[in-house]
Amino acid sequence: MARSFAVVALFVSVVCFSSALARKTPERFFVEGKIYCDPCQFAFESRLSFPLPGVNVTLECIMEENDTVSYSRKSSTDANGLYSIPVRGDHEEEICVVVANPPNEGQCRQAMPNKSDRIILTKNMGAASQTRYVNPLGFMTQTTDPQCTDVVQELGLDKLFDD
Ligand SMILES: *[C@@H]1O[C@H](CO)[C@@H](O)[C@H](O)[C@H]1NC(C)=O
Ligand SMILES: *[C@@H]1O[C@H](CO)[C@@H](O)[C@H](O)[C@H]1NC(C)=O
Ligand SMILES: *[C@@H]1O[C@H](CO)[C@@H](O)[C@H](O)[C@H]1NC(C)=O
Repeated sequence: MARSFAVVALFVSVVCFSSALARKTPERFFVEGKIYCDPCQFAFESRLSFPLPGVNVTLECIMEENDTVSYSRKSSTDANGLYSIPVRGDHEEEICVVVANPPNEGQCRQAMPNKSDRIILTKNMGAASQTRYVNPLGFMTQTTDPQCTDVVQELGLDKLFDD
C-alpha cells in the first residue's frame, strides 16, 4: 500500500514537473509528412506509389486579415520521402500549410494539389503532442505504369466507371 502510494506520488510529481517545464519553454512543434510519386495519374496514393526524395517543401503561415506571410520555414524530403520541419512559436491566429515544390527533374513532376490541409500550430486546441502530421502530398508521372490497370481492378474503380 505504502509502496503504491509512493509510485503514485512519483508519477504525480513527474507529471507536474514536466508540465511546469512545458510552460516555461517556448512553443515548439514538428510538422511532419510525406511526399510521394503517383505513377498512375490517380491523384491519390496507391500501392504503386513510392516516396520522392529531395523535394523542397515550405511551411507557410499567413495572417488571415491581410494575407501577409507571417512565418515560413523550408525543408526537403529525405530518402524515404519524409520531412520534419521544426516550428517555433504559437500560430493559433494564422493559417499554416505545407506547400511542396514540383521537382525540376525526374519522371514525377506533374502537380496535383501541392498544398496540405490547414495545420493547427497551437497548444490551445487540445492536442498535447508536439508533432503535427500532415496529409501526404504527391506528384504524378506523365505516363502511367502498366501495373496501374491491376490496381484499378483491385480497388474496384473499373466497376465504378463501367456502367
Ligand atoms: C497584418 O496583420 C497583422 C495582425 O493584425 C499585423 O501585425 C501586421 O502588421 C499586418 N501586416 C501588414 C503588412 O499589414
Ligand atoms: C504548386 O503547384 C502549382 C501548379 O499546380 C504551381 O503553380 C505552384 O508554383 C506550386 N507551388 C509551389 C510552392 O511550388
Ligand atoms: C531546393 O532548394 C534549394 C535551395 O533553396 C535549391 O538549390 C534546389 O535547387 C531546390 N531543389 C529543387 C528540386 O527544387
